[in-house]
Amino acid sequence: MTNYARMYRLGFTPWERYGPAAGAQLRSWLDREAQDRPSPPGRALDIGCGRGQFTSELVDHGWETTGVDLVPLAIEAAREKGPAGVDYVVGDVTDLSPDLGTFDLFVDIGCFQGLDRTQRVAHGRSVTALAAPGATLLMLAFGPSIYRRMVEGVSQEEVEDAFSGWELIDVEDAPTKGLGFPMNRTRPKWYRFRRSTG
Ligand SMILES: C[S@@+](CC[C@H](N)C(=O)[O-])C[C@H]1O[C@@H](n2cnc3c(N)ncnc32)[C@H](O)[C@@H]1O
Repeated sequence: MTNYARMYRLGFTPWERYGPAAGAQLRSWLDREAQDRPSPPGRALDIGCGRGQFTSELVDHGWETTGVDLVPLAIEAAREKGPAGVDYVVGDVTDLSPDLGTFDLFVDIGCFQGLDRTQRVAHGRSVTALAAPGATLLMLAFGPSIYRRMVEGVSQEEVEDAFSGWELIDVEDAPTKGLGFPMNRTRPKWYRFRRSTG
């Protein structure tokens, strides 16, 4: 697994250059989501939120937002820079605390793709345990590539495996603008899942 703690300590965060392109697409997914939701839409969890570069999009769309990340330094930076009212917590997505409560929306931009199989299954289980009926999961993940020693990635099958209790309602290619080599060779995809209304 990527050593994110070390990268944040060194200030080497190349994924943040993807912010503008991914942010524009996230906005469009959130606009679509708003069509199916009341206003305000509910509670959102930004999984592997890093320094919080996407949490403001959630707040701007009216979501009561929590950001969770494994790296305390990233969470510290998110608390300093992020929008007011967001709850940023240090936590492991493979073992989320039930104290976080339930969520209507989960956003995972670049976290799931770096986990091994056991962690991916645990991520799916842990997120599912906190999902409100009818919850949505929006995931942006790199695909597997011949550059796998340098860059992480997961196949659609691996994503679906971890969220077998969810319905996959959309899959779309994501833009690669802003991604340097070899990340721009990973055919990133957006996935949108819906949890059954139970
Ligand atoms: C590629 S970065 C993306 C960060 C952020 N979503 C963004 O796009 O700026 C992946 C993030 O996932 C976090 N992460 C990795 N494994 C995690 C885990 N098990 N639980 C919570 N966060 C994790 C890393 O610390 C890192 O901040």
